[in-house]
Amino acid sequence: MAKRDYTEMGINTRLAHAGNDPRDYFGFVNPPVVHASTVLFPNAATLAARAQKYTYGTRGTPTTDALANAIDELEGSAGTIIVPSGLAAVTVPLLAFLSAGDHVLIVDSVYHPTRNFADTMLKRLGVEVDYYDPHVGAGIAALMKPNTKVVFTESPASNTFEMQDIPAIAKAAHERGAVVMMDNTWATPLYFKPLDHGVDVSIHAATKYPAGHSDLLLGTVSANAASWERLHQGFLTLGCCAAPDDVYQVLRGLRTMGVRLERHQESALDIARWLEKQPGVARVLHPGLESHPGHAIWKRDFSGASGIFSVVFSGGGQKQAHAFLDALEIFGLGYSWGGYESLAVHVFLGDRVVAKGPYEGPILRLQIGLENVEDLKADIAKGLAAAAAAKD
Ligand SMILES: Cc1ncc(COP(=O)(O)O)c(C=O)c1O
Repeated sequence: MAKRDYTEMGINTRLAHAGNDPRDYFGFVNPPVVHASTVLFPNAATLAARAQKYTYGTRGTPTTDALANAIDELEGSAGTIIVPSGLAAVTVPLLAFLSAGDHVLIVDSVYHPTRNFADTMLKRLGVEVDYYDPHVGAGIAALMKPNTKVVFTESPASNTFEMQDIPAIAKAAHERGAVVMMDNTWATPLYFKPLDHGVDVSIHAATKYPAGHSDLLLGTVSANAASWERLHQGFLTLGCCAAPDDVYQVLRGLRTMGVRLERHQESALDIARWLEKQPGVARVLHPGLESHPGHAIWKRDFSGASGIFSVVFSGGGQKQAHAFLDALEIFGLGYSWGGYESLAVHVFLGDRVVAKGPYEGPILRLQIGLENVEDLKADIAKGLAAAAAAKD
């Protein structure tokens, strides 16, 4: 049987067959989980020249190759590295591309641990760090300095879901010689393909939708041809490789990610529209809603929305936010997202320097899982009633 070319087929067909060829391993549908440090060489000359495909566990195995190939097929990238967490997927490329004396521009609405890494380790290593307004668009040109080497984007924003004009930012950054990195965890490569919109390095916390079950941590970083060698060398230098069982579980998760995302998308949009009409709600921060200020950009560039968004209460503060959270029975209170179960957290914006609001009341972030929508709405309604009853 000839090997099919799946590249032009529908996304769920591609997800089902991406990454490995069963004929490479006796016809077993899934690739082996290779646990390895040492790889043996057949003779001294091959050992000395390292002249074979696999040479040591940190440098890749058939298991990591299967996942990296699958991600390359989805991202359209020249190469992908696999690292032990989504946070490592942020820090490894920043370390690989920045040097003392360089300047990095980071979106102000970035995932908080990215900011923490920049403000502590990057600054200690002599890198200048500035934050920009997520709505900056082509205006980023005015913030670029001669030593700006990286522009780091994330769209939509963590927690507040502002949309960025990625093509305009990438164009301005490239005109001044900077590399553009994007944390694309929210959309996954199914709903946004950063490299097709001018991004050089696409970052994912595979912990979220690719893994899908809140039971492991993993990150992927994919680069275009121009940036691949530098990213790959940085990865090999740092030795920041991932454990084989987790890599395998993410490849397994990819097979069902398309159908899971369809459900996350549908349920989250349904709940977001319903929430817009509930008493006590000022705004719903979901770019798939027509009311969202970034809706036009989302529609232009993205082909879908995942299952996480925020709701802004029409008044109150921490007391009301905590009353809402404490009344929930189906939604768990906890960090992360992308798993099968619903979660809620109270958003903290105290670290922002530009994108601070104003907001009418507390912001609650909801990750909509795979439960039945009516059950989730009933749970949220209980929370809203508790928030309304909470007096200052
Ligand atoms: C946007 C974004 N990027 C990266 C990460 C980090 O992923 P991990 O939890 O695997 O370190 C997260 C985690 O919440 C995230 O929300």
